[in-house]
Amino acid sequence: MTEQGKLVAAAEDLESPVTIGVDAYISPDYVKQERDRLWRKAWLQAGRLEDLPEVGSFITFDILDDSILIVRNEDGLAAFWNVCPHRGRKLVDVPKGQRNAHGHKSKFVCGFHAWTFELNGKCSFIQHQDDWQGALTDDRTHLGPVKVDTWGGWIWINMDPASVSLAEWLDPAAALLDPFQLQNMRPRWRKWIIFDCNWKVALEAFNETYHVPGTHPEFMAFGQFRGWGRNQKLHSHIGYEAAKGIEEDAGKLRLGTGEDPRLSTAEMQVFTWENANTNTTRTLVDAALRLKDELPAGTPAPEVSRHWITRAKEEDAKRGVVWPEVAPEHTAKVGTAWQIFPNFQIGHAVNNMLCYSARPYGYDPDKCIFEAAVYELWPEGEAPETEWTYTQPHEWPPVLQQDFENMAAVQQGMKSGGFKGTLPNPYMERAIPSLHWNLAKFMGQGAPRSLD
Ligand code: FES
Ligand SMILES: [Fe+2]
Repeated sequence: MTEQGKLVAAAEDLESPVTIGVDAYISPDYVKQERDRLWRKAWLQAGRLEDLPEVGSFITFDILDDSILIVRNEDGLAAFWNVCPHRGRKLVDVPKGQRNAHGHKSKFVCGFHAWTFELNGKCSFIQHQDDWQGALTDDRTHLGPVKVDTWGGWIWINMDPASVSLAEWLDPAAALLDPFQLQNMRPRWRKWIIFDCNWKVALEAFNETYHVPGTHPEFMAFGQFRGWGRNQKLHSHIGYEAAKGIEEDAGKLRLGTGEDPRLSTAEMQVFTWENANTNTTRTLVDAALRLKDELPAGTPAPEVSRHWITRAKEEDAKRGVVWPEVAPEHTAKVGTAWQIFPNFQIGHAVNNMLCYSARPYGYDPDKCIFEAAVYELWPEGEAPETEWTYTQPHEWPPVLQQDFENMAAVQQGMKSGGFKGTLPNPYMERAIPSLHWNLAKFMGQGAPRSLD
């Protein structure tokens, strides 16, 4: 690891060129320490509220040695350590090959000696309880509580009872994203996969736009992908530079550039729909395809943008899908995606979103569990039932496969004796030093260093 330069001390220093050592990506010791210093201290996105529709619905969230049981009971949501206080059997098993356990129960019965727990965590049945001579108090037999809260339609847990509140943790991301009403979206698809790379390598394949010309050259036919990255306390976000008058273009509903933006927008929309199956909706694709019939050749780009978005919004409203109102200046300020510390990315828009998360797969620094879910707004009652599907790389949209192809190669390259630490682009890839600057506060090592 390089020792050049000063450690980055303040958020402003993230705007200068920095380098980041490789320990956070490849060191077995670092990965062991992550459990206690990071995962057991951080607020973690653990599921979606629609996964717990009624009293008795439950899911587990599993990370390294810890499994958290999240339940909807009469009082709302509750989270517990998924372990029986009797002899430590995991209370709810995760079926082999599945991402997590989920289902519906009126109580939880331990598979070993049948201690039984109510949905509020209280132990309500112990065989031969008198044998303990009164020592089994409610306190001793209750499932251990874990902090749980909600924002954006997600369930968040924190294993540290002394942690800050979720609202404090998410600041300022939550307030800036609230106008997009992400809680109203439902998944179109959800997939998970195990990659041969560290969880940070997987997330960092998506938190910058600098890789677009190199990894996705086909997109260059449709426009410019010059994007910025900014630190926001624990988090960061990215967005595109947009011309004056089309501030929406800093968000995800972007116009194609070139001679005729009516045609290039339609081409980009069709290409995105077919090859990424995300970042747009059928309504937007269809509205883009109609641009050439509804607008004369030579219509200026800002007008094409406004027309496209207005018509798509009207079409959706007819089927009961009402987009939230977000001012173009707000879209420009918020950008296209937020990296919520430590391991969740929300790629938001007014009518759809693409979310990624990555977490360790065991204590091997070279492996991670990666998940992606694509959401949109649906007419009342028409959202499809989706499950988390385990996949192989070839089962993903082609554009995402292009991203995946870099990951194992980066993980291997970082171990090379000739590699001196990463050199992220100080403007376009600033989300990366932001992540490591924040990680270092938890891990006590690995802060970016200046390149002066
Ligand atoms: S370990 Fe659960 S009842 Fe014994
Ligand atoms: Fe990509």
